[in-house]
Amino acid sequence: MTATISHRATNLVAHSYDDFPVTAGQLDLRGDNSPPLSAEFTRPIALPTAEAATYGDIRGELRLRTVLAELFGVDRDQVVVTAGGSEALWLALTCVTDHGDAIRMPRPAFPGFEQQARLLGLRVLPYGAAAAVPRRGTMPVLICTPHNPTGLLTHPDGAGRSGGWVIWDLSHMTTSGTGLAEFTTGFGAQDIAVFSLSKMLRLPGARVGCLIGADPALLDAVVRAKTHVAMSTSCLAQDLALRVLADPAARHELTVRTTLFAEHRAQLLAAVDASSTLRAVAAADGTHLYVEAVDGADAWQRLAVRGVVGIPGPVFHGTSREVRLCIAQPQQVIDDAAARVRAP
Ligand SMILES: Cc1ncc(COP(=O)(O)O)c(C=O)c1O
Repeated sequence: MTATISHRATNLVAHSYDDFPVTAGQLDLRGDNSPPLSAEFTRPIALPTAEAATYGDIRGELRLRTVLAELFGVDRDQVVVTAGGSEALWLALTCVTDHGDAIRMPRPAFPGFEQQARLLGLRVLPYGAAAAVPRRGTMPVLICTPHNPTGLLTHPDGAGRSGGWVIWDLSHMTTSGTGLAEFTTGFGAQDIAVFSLSKMLRLPGARVGCLIGADPALLDAVVRAKTHVAMSTSCLAQDLALRVLADPAARHELTVRTTLFAEHRAQLLAAVDASSTLRAVAAADGTHLYVEAVDGADAWQRLAVRGVVGIPGPVFHGTSREVRLCIAQPQQVIDDAAARVRAP
């Protein structure tokens, strides 16, 4: 008898930035290249030995949940700290679907959505990321806002207020200002938010995120599922996340950075507009632009030849006519990229 790898694992697709290398003279717009946020990073991690000697609360460290609850304008009992946005997403999908169920997901989109759905045996019914989001109903709907890779925004009323589950992926929202709390105002029992500290907070290596829910039965299910998937989230990582979230200097840097990214977005969108061969989705937030070749050519190639390297559309279940560019780059890279994009 031969031992085989499962179909679901065999069929998984996982890319890394190294699949799209940047060569000498090219500009790297594949992902966020901005430095970590905070002076906190220069302090040695204070090892909370006593905490590391226990699993800790499965829902996450109380002080971190309290800070996250304030950010989201919810009660701390509604927050579960997770190993990145990916685990939050996994827990949300696991707790609102059964094998064989259908779910609405955007396309193009963060690849993890459909790959996780595949692992869970779900049927994905895609909707166009640039079209109106589906109304909530019998089928769960996943909505990403700010959307990766297009930078489009969906209003919290977008899917309607009552009906079935909506999983809101808010991973690309900034924690500066009151946007997160305003977004969750009016969240009903069937709204779930997933969030990642990997994005604007620049802590991808810490692997910290969270899930916010209003339904006690959902939260109980999430805690049961997490008990068997990861138990608790690393206490060292939670300590770092707490320090960065609570650090006024980091908060100030994030506000400055959010404004700077808006300028970068406007600058690159103007460059695409001025180009005769490219057009872009009208990004409003986040750190990405989704650019298309107007004549149907391979957009990744077209830009790579000009020395601007992004991530090809097919990675996001888009087409080869499209490419994602990340605007979270030093000013000089944005200036050079704009000139190259604009060139005839
Ligand atoms: C929309 C979206 N959701 C979730 C994630 C996963 O976040 P994490 O890296 O914290 O697991 C990402 C990562 O890029 C993302 O873009």
